[in-house]
Amino acid sequence: PSPLLIAPSILAADFARLGEEVTAIGKAGADWIHLDVMDGHFVPNISFGPALIKALRSHSSLPFDAHLMIEPCDLFLEAFANAGADHITVHAEAGPHLHRSLQRIRALGVKAGVSLCPATPPEQLSQVLDMVDIILVMTVNPGFGGQKFLTSQIRKIETLRAMIAASGRDIRLAVDGGIDPETAPLAVAAGADVLIAGSAIYGTDDYAAAIHGLREAART
Ligand code: DX5
Ligand code: ZN
Repeated sequence: PSPLLIAPSILAADFARLGEEVTAIGKAGADWIHLDVMDGHFVPNISFGPALIKALRSHSSLPFDAHLMIEPCDLFLEAFANAGADHITVHAEAGPHLHRSLQRIRALGVKAGVSLCPATPPEQLSQVLDMVDIILVMTVNPGFGGQKFLTSQIRKIETLRAMIAASGRDIRLAVDGGIDPETAPLAVAAGADVLIAGSAIYGTDDYAAAIHGLREAART
């Protein structure tokens, strides 16, 4: 796998000071900014949309990693690309046509990602591996920060790592949900090379120490 990347989720940041929060996390050593978009329909929570991402764009030069928990997603792909998302990840479960959504994301000139909920098997991605740059394994049910890491997802991470190796393609394997210094080593040992974390980073008062702590934990 490629060098480990840390992607803090602003879902756990102070929403009243998001511009500063995004700038601060870059200075603290983040690699990507993870943006959790929730529609109150695909997931039982509402977060923010393209207008907020556009407003944050000038506050960071890091890649903006948009995780769309919205259904259907196709209507909004262009808006997220125009807002400044560098990566757009959609859910395999959101539909209606994952293949078409990935085609559209690629046509917009941004990196294409696909995410799997805990109940979705890895084989769901066998026909789209040639179209993705990022696979995001949900290690909690999507919708909320601060939930407990599901160890049942470890086998799925291992399977996807093997599928990526067999594809010969350069695909990032991200984990999202309940990632902290205890769970990060499990995910990385299984093959993850991007750690997405909300509470374990933004929930602390020393972001640099939290990011460093995740990197160190993952090396053990
Ligand atoms: C959940 C989101 C996650 C969430 C992670 O639906 O996709 O990115 O912010 O939060 P923690 O790290 O607190 O589990
Ligand atoms: Zn996320």
